[in-house]
Amino acid sequence: MTTLVIGAGLVGAQVARILIEEGEAPVLFDTAPQPAALAEVFDPARAVMEVGDILRPLTLAGVLQRHKITRIAHTAANPMLTLGAQRDPYAAIQLNIMGTVNVIEAARAFGIRRVVVSSSNVLNHFVAGGDGSGDPMRETAFPRPTTFYASTKQAIESLGLNYARWHGIEFAALRYGAVFGPWSGAGGGGPSNVMREAVRKALVGEEAVLPAGAMEWVYSKDAGAGTVLALKAKELGFGVFNITMGALAKPEDMANALKAAVPGAKVRIETPSAAAVSLPDMKAVSDLTLAKQTLGFAPRYGLVEGVKDLVAWMKARSA
Ligand SMILES: NC(=O)c1ccc[n+]([C@@H]2O[C@H](COP(=O)([O-])OP(=O)(O)OC[C@H]3O[C@@H](n4cnc5c(N)ncnc54)[C@H](O)[C@@H]3O)[C@@H](O)[C@H]2O)c1
Repeated sequence: MTTLVIGAGLVGAQVARILIEEGEAPVLFDTAPQPAALAEVFDPARAVMEVGDILRPLTLAGVLQRHKITRIAHTAANPMLTLGAQRDPYAAIQLNIMGTVNVIEAARAFGIRRVVVSSSNVLNHFVAGGDGSGDPMRETAFPRPTTFYASTKQAIESLGLNYARWHGIEFAALRYGAVFGPWSGAGGGGPSNVMREAVRKALVGEEAVLPAGAMEWVYSKDAGAGTVLALKAKELGFGVFNITMGALAKPEDMANALKAAVPGAKVRIETPSAAAVSLPDMKAVSDLTLAKQTLGFAPRYGLVEGVKDLVAWMKARSA
């Protein structure tokens, strides 16, 4: 088995680390790898790094062939996710949708069956409508994504499920919660960077700013673990899975988690306006039943454990 991990960022690095710990030598594929940040997560000697672009299908095909790839975890997406896609919808649509189609088509061409794609729990939180009581004869039946980024994730879920239905691809889409975790490079989305900055400021004794709305997070190590479970699961069943902490964190929960990890931390609750579109006040908790039943996924990190782990990692790297 040789796994191709497309996108070597906040989540892709964790997927690679777990595969290495399980004895594999994964191949990573990224347009702009960040070797120093990656080396803080896993031993680079235990993986292969390929520089390439999923929007250039022949480059991707060359990598699949050269490394005899047998399964794919695709975690690439547009820079700054929701925020980036609002600024430049065309680029995000092209990368997230056509890039994913390129990955699945390349898998088909090379007889690679298992393709696990990163979706997002924005599809649980950034939707409106669905007033048609599920009656598909009514135009209003289905909830519609309210951002460009969420629209691209909805598209790739639907397209991937049709590749599964009609072309035998074993497709899984993983709806991660807002991800935070150990990563010193560029990457992640608005919430990832707000949380990282809050922890960094708390550690240097400055006032940390945490969002004013409830958030549904997942720690990056759990996002990676869920991805590896989907790469290895015998059956993928429904094919779409929530991978989150399974809890809503209110602002005071986030503040308390930070204070538990950094005693005496000063905290201000305020949604940074530059990241506001990516930090809605989330109202409900994603259901983890399918992820548990089909993949055997259960989050190992709640908010307190995740923030503590991140603080320990940040302290260790600055020591
Ligand atoms: N970070 C979050 O909060 C979050 C939440 C839910 C879902 N997700 C999804 O999880 C996945 C991973 O997110 P992340 O936080 O690790 O993102 P990230 O930005 O840290 O990593 C994505 C990587 O993809 C690479 N990439 C971009 N365009 C590429 C291309 N054309 N070809 C090859 N590589 C390319 C980037 O260089 C980057 O290293 C994404 O699909 C994202 O939409 C993330």
